Amino acid sequence: MKKRVVVYKRVPPALIARLREHFEVDCFDGVTPANREAFLAALKTAHGMIGASVKFDAAMLDGAENLEIASTISVGYDSFDVPYFLKRSIMLTHTPDILTDSVADLVMALILAASRRIVELDGFIRAGKWGHSVEEEAFGTDVHHRTLGLIGMGRIAAAVARRAHHGFGMKIVYDDHKRVPAVEAEFGAVSMPVAELLAQADYVCPLLPYRPENHKLFGAAEFARMKPSAIFINASRGKVVDEAALIAALENRTIRAAGLDVFETEPLAASSPLVDLPNVVLTPHIGSATAQTRDGMVEMAVDDLIAGLTGAKPPHLVDAAMWPRAINI
Ligand code: DGY
Repeated sequence: MKKRVVVYKRVPPALIARLREHFEVDCFDGVTPANREAFLAALKTAHGMIGASVKFDAAMLDGAENLEIASTISVGYDSFDVPYFLKRSIMLTHTPDILTDSVADLVMALILAASRRIVELDGFIRAGKWGHSVEEEAFGTDVHHRTLGLIGMGRIAAAVARRAHHGFGMKIVYDDHKRVPAVEAEFGAVSMPVAELLAQADYVCPLLPYRPENHKLFGAAEFARMKPSAIFINASRGKVVDEAALIAALENRTIRAAGLDVFETEPLAASSPLVDLPNVVLTPHIGSATAQTRDGMVEMAVDDLIAGLTGAKPPHLVDAAMWPRAINI
């Protein structure tokens, strides 16, 4: 009898067909209040699941007694309770590396858009307000040769540093729990304590996974330490920021501007005060959302799922060293 797989995100038909060569497949276009019950019923008999952007808790998974693997189409796996997966010996895989350059491109786009007021001034033309050559009130601020402060120096931060340093001549400062000699050698990046970074950087950009210890790492005190000219960029996870404190800092001009791709609650409500602030550029969590990168991520996640359910070791296990049991190999 074929194993059962639940797909809870839209996946290209060719990949669904590949899954169907091996498994019985139930497809859901996301999990909504309307289909939640049917989704949970399908999960109860599933051996594998694949998708993204759904937060799973024990109550959802306790009934899924056959579950052997969850393959998330994302590099972040904060939607999963990893100790719970370990306890139940359910494999968890994700999609590292493939999205690094796309997310780094988006970070640069947010830096540029917030600095040069691209969205605001696009609106200015569309509103018929462009009557003469723009004056000081429409001036932006330079990006090149300024200082970029990165909090966390993983793969995506290093890709941002490469673009910022080699492309824009920016000085890179960073804070991580360890020094990263490669970025110091390649980009002249300078490691410093976060308090010093906040005081020096023209751009402050956390690129951190969400973990409980990173919860609301950026609050009123951190924004107060930044320069009034600083621009805050977040394309990692919304919950690393106290959003109310960020809104206050932007309203009071404690900092100059922000470029945000992620939010405390997603989708961001149209009633959020962020929507009315002219000094914020907003994008709807699109770090990896290019056709090429998303296709590659889905393919990678499907490969991992098939490997895990056919007796091979999935190549992209979440921190394989953490998995104490011999995983079907
Ligand atoms: C990820 O892969 O974790 C990204 O946030 C998705 O865009």
